[in-house]
Amino acid sequence: MEKILILDFGGQYNQLIARRVREQNIYAEILPYDRLSADEIRNRQYKGIIFTGGPNSVYEKGAPVCDPKVLYCGIPVLGTCYGAQLAAYLCGGTVSPADTGSEYGKTLLHRKAPHKLFEGVPEESICWMSHTDRIHMIPEGFQLLAWTDKCPCAAMGDDSRKLYGVQFHPEVTHTEYGKQILKNFLFSVCGCSGDWDALDYADRAIAKYRAEYADKKVLLALSGGVDSSVAALLLHKAIGQNLTCVFVDHGLLRKGEGDFVEKTFRHGFGVNLIRVNAGDRFLEKLMGVWEPEEKRQIIGAEFIHVFEEEARKIGHVHALAQGTIYPDVIESGKGASAVIKSHHNVGGLPDVIFFDELIEPLRDFFKDEVRAIGTMLGLPKELVFRQPFPGPGLGVRIVGEITREKIRMVQEADAIFREEIDSAGLSKKPDQYFAALTDTRSVGVMGDARTYGYIAMLRAVSTDDFMTAEWSRLPYEVLERASSRITNEVPGISRVVYDISSKPPATVELE
Ligand code: XMP
Repeated sequence: MEKILILDFGGQYNQLIARRVREQNIYAEILPYDRLSADEIRNRQYKGIIFTGGPNSVYEKGAPVCDPKVLYCGIPVLGTCYGAQLAAYLCGGTVSPADTGSEYGKTLLHRKAPHKLFEGVPEESICWMSHTDRIHMIPEGFQLLAWTDKCPCAAMGDDSRKLYGVQFHPEVTHTEYGKQILKNFLFSVCGCSGDWDALDYADRAIAKYRAEYADKKVLLALSGGVDSSVAALLLHKAIGQNLTCVFVDHGLLRKGEGDFVEKTFRHGFGVNLIRVNAGDRFLEKLMGVWEPEEKRQIIGAEFIHVFEEEARKIGHVHALAQGTIYPDVIESGKGASAVIKSHHNVGGLPDVIFFDELIEPLRDFFKDEVRAIGTMLGLPKELVFRQPFPGPGLGVRIVGEITREKIRMVQEADAIFREEIDSAGLSKKPDQYFAALTDTRSVGVMGDARTYGYIAMLRAVSTDDFMTAEWSRLPYEVLERASSRITNEVPGISRVVYDISSKPPATVELE
């Protein structure tokens, strides 16, 4: 399989570079800059290497530097931003802060004479710049390929060694011909043929699991979220009834969700599913608890208890399967202490000793690839394209103490709000939208009677990565319809407010 290595120097767009490469049907993996030696890289037979950008300056003490021999191991290299400066520096060129200051944003790029890296790129085009340092002296053997007003060397290349550097970011869409430049590097320079396909890869994974786990029992915690759902179906396809999915219904799911998950998996796909209706247990543990972190911990811990109990009932199980996806396992190249983010859908599954193995069938895939695989496996659209839902569920959308009554109110209000948004024909729907319940009651009037009900809060945000989010400017009519329906149809709620806080300073969830 053709593979491209992306060496991560702490750039903010590292995942985007990998996405862009995979869009060309070439498998790309991201590793921290110092993870492999040049010999190890050579042995892994990558077709090409891309250096990401990064926040450092090459001369800075502690600046990230890969094994310099990487540039001499015969594999083509494309350095981007910091990666280009590093390549220049390691090949004997110099880098210096631009005396004209930083160059940031859309910038006019002039390419020099035609070159295979710029095939199909006009003499002038727009690129995206974000740098303070720049290549000052081009290393021997390299030729200048492009420049901008503030950056005399915006691209350079040494065709004999197949080493290239671009000061701009070809991976972002603001660089008009960025995709073309990457394509030129991958196909014309690295000689890739583009024969990788996430769906083929998934098919091969199914065949591999079928062969390896034909007579072994595998257990999976199904949350109903996209990742665990796709992992469940993929394994079901591979090993059928040897897979047991445990779906812990903690009673804090959206309205009708537990039944929907059960219907889809057990009745639709014939998955061996155990649904544990543990709502009462969770409620009991949550009684009298107001503090958000404590609530999260209780829900997480109880989830583990329930899951373990079910696992024990099944007896010896060979492997535990999880829906971990690629962004969860990428190690960051930022700083010396690379951190592996371990992600779990529901507060963290135990490091259970009674499993011999952990299988993560989706650990090589990005979210959109996971969705494509889900679609290929026949998962319903509502599941494949569903918005994220936190592991602790409505527990983090009910401010203060959780009661059965409050769960009912927030489930009803949430169902109405989602219905109104889904039927409003919005040109672009918010990325996440839901109703929450505040811990405040206020006076209202209904008919001739005074009411004293809870204040529900509607939240809708648009975001790329959920690290930051903008509150959505929903049409007033949609908000009005939702508010009117909620106060009329949900007993106990007498007032509805709309959250106009972005993240930061707020978070998406309330707790
Ligand atoms: P916050 O509230 O941190 O949420 O701005 C960002 C995104 O993460 C989701 N979220 C969670 N997802 N377990 C999850 O699987 C959790 O404990 C959890 N808390 C928040 C949230 O819905 C939003 O999409």
